[in-house]
Amino acid sequence: MKKIFPIKKLSEVIEIPGDKSISHRAIMLSSLGDTSVEIENFLAGADCLSTIGCMKEMGVEIKTDGDKVFVKGNGLFGLREPENILDAGNSGTTLRLLLGLTAPQKFLATFTGDSSLKKRPMARVIKPLAEMGAAIFGRNDNKNLPITVLKPDKKLRGISYKMPVASAQVKSAIILAALYADSPTTIIEPYPSRNHTEKMLRAFGAKIETVGNEIKVFPAEKLTAPEKIIVPGDISSAAYWLVLATILKNFCVTIKNVGINETRTGILDVLKNMGASIEILNQQESGGELSADLKVTSSKLHGVKFGGEMIPRLIDEIPALAVAAAFADGDTIINDVGELRVKETDRLAAIVAEFNKISPNSFEADENTLIIHGGNKKIFAECKTFADHRMAMSLSIYGAAAEGVAIDDTDCVKISYPNFFETL
Ligand code: S3P
Repeated sequence: MKKIFPIKKLSEVIEIPGDKSISHRAIMLSSLGDTSVEIENFLAGADCLSTIGCMKEMGVEIKTDGDKVFVKGNGLFGLREPENILDAGNSGTTLRLLLGLTAPQKFLATFTGDSSLKKRPMARVIKPLAEMGAAIFGRNDNKNLPITVLKPDKKLRGISYKMPVASAQVKSAIILAALYADSPTTIIEPYPSRNHTEKMLRAFGAKIETVGNEIKVFPAEKLTAPEKIIVPGDISSAAYWLVLATILKNFCVTIKNVGINETRTGILDVLKNMGASIEILNQQESGGELSADLKVTSSKLHGVKFGGEMIPRLIDEIPALAVAAAFADGDTIINDVGELRVKETDRLAAIVAEFNKISPNSFEADENTLIIHGGNKKIFAECKTFADHRMAMSLSIYGAAAEGVAIDDTDCVKISYPNFFETL
C-alpha cells in the first residue's frame, strides 16, 4: 500500500510526459518509411515500449535514449516475419494497430499480452480485417488473445465499414491494413474518435480524406517520413493536474506543452462547462498536431450532464473527471460510457467500488451511465487500483485533494506516466 497525503502546495509550472497515442504511431509509421527518424519527447511508458519491442521483432532497428528514439525505417514492404510471439503487454493500442499492420504482410505473426489484455474484446478488429480478406484467428471464437495472423491468400480488398463503436484503435487498425489494399477503404464512425493516425499518415504523404464521420483511405506505394517527429505532451496525463488545480483552493498552475488536438480536448470543454478556469496559451503546431500551455486557476464547480459525441473526445479522462464531479455542487450525469467496461479494467465498476470508499454513496453506474453526486463528505480510505494506471492516478489525486488515500499498486502508472508520483 502507498499512502498519499492531502496536498498543501502545488508547483506553479508542471511538465507532463509525451502523448501515448502519438508515441505509438510515431514508432509504427517511422518503421514504414525508408529513412531514419528522430522522435522527440517520446513517452517511454510500458505501453509504447511494447510497441517498440514488437516492431524490433519485425526487423526494425530502433534505439532509445531517454525521451528520444531513433527509428530506421525498413520501407512499407520491409517488415519481416517475427521469430517470436509478439507481446503487446497491457497495451490495447499496440495490439489492435499491429493486427491491422500485420494483416496484409506476407508472413505469420502471433500476438499475446498480459492478463488484462487477454480479457479485452478483439472481435471488433478481427471482424473488419477478416472482411478485407485477412486470415486472422483468435481464441474464444475469434474474440480474444492469443491471435494469429497468417499470410493472406491475395491482396486485401478495400471495403466500406460502418464501425459499431467509436474507437480510434479499431479505426487505425483498418487504416493501416487499407494502405496495402487493392482499392480505397471507407470507414464510417458513429462519432469522430482521435485522429492521430490520419494526421501522421498525411504528414508521411499518404492520401486520406476525412468528411465528417467518414474516412477514406487510399492504398499507398510508399511512405515518406519526416526527419523528426516532436510528440506533444499527453492531455490524458495533464488531466490529473487540470482537475487537481481546479478543485484545490487558491491555486494557479501552468501545464506546459499539452497536445490540444480537437479530438482529445473534451476534458477542457467539460471542465469549463463545470465552471473551471483554463486559459490556452502559446499555441504551437508540429506535424499537424497542436499543443499549448494550459493555465488553470482554482474554481468552484457545478455538476453537468453529457454523453454522445463528447465521449470519444475524453474517454480516458472520465475517472479524473469523476473526481472533479465529486467536488462539484450537484449531480453529474455521464451517458454512453459503456466502453469504460472494456478498458484495462472495468472502469465503471472500479469507480463505483473504490471512489465510494472515499465519498460514500456518491457514485452509481449502470451498463452505460455514470452518475456522481457531488459535494459529499470525503474520508481517508484504502483503495484498489485493479492494476489500472488511470485508476491509480485518479485515486491518488482524489485522496490528495481530500483526506488522503492508500492505494495497493503504484507500479501500474508506468504504463502511461512513469514519473507521476514524483510530480504528485
Ligand atoms: C487509443 C484509443 C482509445 C483510448 C486508448 C488509446 C488510441 O481506445 O482509450 O487509451 O491510441 O488509439 P479505443 O479505441 O478502444 O476507444
